[in-house]
Parts: sequence; structure tokens; C-alpha cells
Amino acid sequence: MKKVCFVCLGNICRSPMAEFVMKHLDKKQELWVESRATSTWEHGNPIHLGTQKIFQKYAIAYDKGKVSQSISQSDFGTFDLIIGMDEQNVRDLRMFSNGRYDDKIALFCDGGVPDPWYTGDFEETYHLVTTGCAQWLNKILGE
Ligand code: 4NP
Repeated sequence: MKKVCFVCLGNICRSPMAEFVMKHLDKKQELWVESRATSTWEHGNPIHLGTQKIFQKYAIAYDKGKVSQSISQSDFGTFDLIIGMDEQNVRDLRMFSNGRYDDKIALFCDGGVPDPWYTGDFEETYHLVTTGCAQWLNKILGE
């Protein structure tokens, strides 16, 4: 089973959205999916209400107990694919990986996913996340 980790700055808006949208799309549960933060800023905090409202609106099951967790060195070993939600996330992941796991690190989609923490536009996030997750699912399961 391939293990996939989505990563954003806070792990409360974009990467948990990608985690649970991916689990929703992966009907046969062929992937192991989690999410992490590049920062410690939101450590222990729950998923942002804007993202929770999107899950409720689009009937996407999620773990209400999910809290923000920073990426650790052991995560780089555990996961097969570590997907940064924007270009800065990917730069930070490459820095943490220090050349050891660059082949596992990827950008979620061209141009990245704008941060709704700043834009306030969780609908935009949802549409980018759904499109990107569908493409990643096809790519990963097609390999
Ligand atoms: P996320 O959004 O990276 O999509 O989870 C953010 C959440 C929190 C902060 C920034 C972005 N923050 O500055 O605390």
C-alpha cells in the first residue's frame, strides 16, 4: 500500500482538506493517506472551520479529532510520496530532507494551492484540491 502525505504550512486548512478528499476519492482504500505541517504554528489545533464547512457541504467524511502535526524526520522515511500544497511548502520540505528524500517530494499542482488562511476562499481551495487529488489518485494507482 502506497503511503501519501500532504503537507502545507499549518496543517489546518489545505493539507487536511487534501487528506480527506483523497480518502473520499480512494473508494477502495488503496492508499494510506495522512497530512502534516511544515511549521509548528498550529500544533495540536483542529481543522480550520472553513475546511470543516467544506467537508460538510460536499459530504466528505473526516476525522473531527484530527489535529495539526508537524512533519518529522521519520515521516520522510515512512511515506512514499510527500506532496507540498504550494511552492514554499516544497522548498521547506527539500530543506528538511536535506537531499535524502528529494525523489519523494512533489508539488501538488502547477502554481500550487493558494492559502485560504489568507484568501478566505475555501471554495477555490476545494476545487483545486479535488482536481489535484483525482489526478494524483490516477497517477499513483496507475503506476
Ligand atoms: P494551511 O493554512 O497551511 O493551509 O493550514 C495556514 C494555517 C495557519 C497559518 C497559516 C496558513 N498561520 O499563520 O498560523
